[in-house]
Amino acid sequence: MRLLRSSVRDLPDGPVSRRWWGKTLAIDAALILVIFGAIQLVPVNRANPPVRREPVWDSPETEALVKGACYDCHSNETRWPWYAKIAPASWVVWYDVTQARKHLNFTEWDRFTHAEYVDPNNPFPPKTLTERIAQVLTSGRMPLGIYRIAHRPARLTSGQRDALLAGLIRTVKQNQEPP
Ligand code: HEC
Repeated sequence: MRLLRSSVRDLPDGPVSRRWWGKTLAIDAALILVIFGAIQLVPVNRANPPVRREPVWDSPETEALVKGACYDCHSNETRWPWYAKIAPASWVVWYDVTQARKHLNFTEWDRFTHAEYVDPNNPFPPKTLTERIAQVLTSGRMPLGIYRIAHRPARLTSGQRDALLAGLIRTVKQNQEPP
């Protein structure tokens, strides 16, 4: 406490300290600009890999809903927004798209055609794809909240969400190969 009081007393008076603040803020602003410029140099891979295979949709409505609300992340046909060119937003977009494509990619459907076999002897069976889709849609986790801000087609009404869910589950099931 004594230390603090003495250092406050030792601070230069008004005009000097104002000058000191001005200089400090200018240095900070310059530093932020330099860092902002430097992070732009980190390469971000915005490549869209080729489309391999799409599911056969149960209806054009399902296709339109899924393409409007899920495709920017869960497909190789990502429409990269302008802010995907500016770090650090670009890192967030890149990370979401990369993770999303791993979990579910509608344009690499060959990876998702295996039948949903549930082992009756496994007390903790992994969730099937249709169960995971139902879970993320009914809980409102998908489409991601951050994405809904700037993408109107992803702001689903409850009717659209129910239609998307039912249609997508039909689509997944009709595209699965028998075990
Ligand atoms: C802004 C990007 C984005 C959009 C749009 C999006 N997702 Fe996702 N999705 C992700 C990310 C990132 C993950 C992986 C991380 C996670 O589970 O949160 C994911 C994971 C998933 C999973 C796997 C969940 C699990 O538990 O394994 C499913 C299923 C899914 N999304 C379905 C959808 C559907 C259906 C839509 C469209 C209605 C959609 N997503 C829209 C980014 C997105």
